Amino acid sequence: MAKRLFSGIQPSGDIHIGNYLGALRNWVALIPEFECIYCIVDYHAITIPYEPAEMQGRILSLAAVLVGCGIDPERCTLFVQSHVPEHTELAWVLNSVTPVGELFRMTQFKDKSAQFEGSVNAGLLDYPVLQAADILLYKAEVVPVGEDQVQHLELSREIARRFNARYGPVFPEPKERLTAAARIMGLDDPTKKMSKSLGNTIGLLEEPKSIWEKVRTAVTDPARIRRSDPGEPTKCNVFTLHGYFSSAEDIKRIAPACRAAAIGCIECKKTLYENMMKVLDPIRERAQALLADPEQVWAILRRGAERCRPIAQATMAEVKKAMGL
Ligand code: TYM
Repeated sequence: MAKRLFSGIQPSGDIHIGNYLGALRNWVALIPEFECIYCIVDYHAITIPYEPAEMQGRILSLAAVLVGCGIDPERCTLFVQSHVPEHTELAWVLNSVTPVGELFRMTQFKDKSAQFEGSVNAGLLDYPVLQAADILLYKAEVVPVGEDQVQHLELSREIARRFNARYGPVFPEPKERLTAAARIMGLDDPTKKMSKSLGNTIGLLEEPKSIWEKVRTAVTDPARIRRSDPGEPTKCNVFTLHGYFSSAEDIKRIAPACRAAAIGCIECKKTLYENMMKVLDPIRERAQALLADPEQVWAILRRGAERCRPIAQATMAEVKKAMGL
């Protein structure tokens, strides 16, 4: 039997190239190797302010983009977290083995509670416990994520260890799987991570014109001020992105040309944009085609939840037995 793999993504804000390069490419690449379960984590998304009337639309378009990226529902399972109630049930149980000090230590909690100061709720603090429950409910051993989730994965292992030590060996310890692009930075400010909540993203459903505007104005090597100044590709976020979208030939051509000031930043950005759109155009087109028939997308998600539910129920039964509940 193939090992089980789990990962999740929030239906908050627009899905972007950071999600794609950091996580989703691996989600797709690992399908042949593992039994893959992918989840749209709507219960996580309610921990920051959001518009209830928009949630169903967000879930739907996220599902369409995921399928558009290559998450083939015939070869893996795609579902919505709130359709499988055992996620929150297990999260409650895991709360009882989670030290609250660990939760206050989480970088994502610190960042988000600063960002949403005044509306910090208990769910935001408890967020990583629900994430641990997502993974452990399926006894998943591999979790493809971007670098920002590594700390949450460490905590998931800690929670599994504490549960097992107290109640007996129920859970395996899950391990993160990173891509080479585990941390994609914003185009307007390469010192900040590309993130839905910062609004510095290039969206997978974004119109090409708007993407070009962001690429055109992207920050490059700060030392290259005039066209005649030589640039240093290793200090340029645009060049980093070439590494993920452009061919080996383009990269081999651009690096020395930049260093010799033989090409300008605009020319370099045009090449990036064209190569990026070769990847993004087909994803957007497939997603839009799916969205023309929303019922078809909901049916995929319903089937996914039906496949997950028996696994989730079996784990909860085992957990309750181990705990004397
Ligand atoms: P979310 O929705 O913020 O992001 C989804 C995935 O995209 C990765 N990612 C990035 N990778 C590289 N560079 C970036 N700039 C970048 N921004 C985002 C994230 O690391 C993530 O892998 N807590 C999770 C969702 C979750 C989950 C889980 C993940 C809930 N339960 C169980 C794994 C297992 C999150 O907020 O992802």
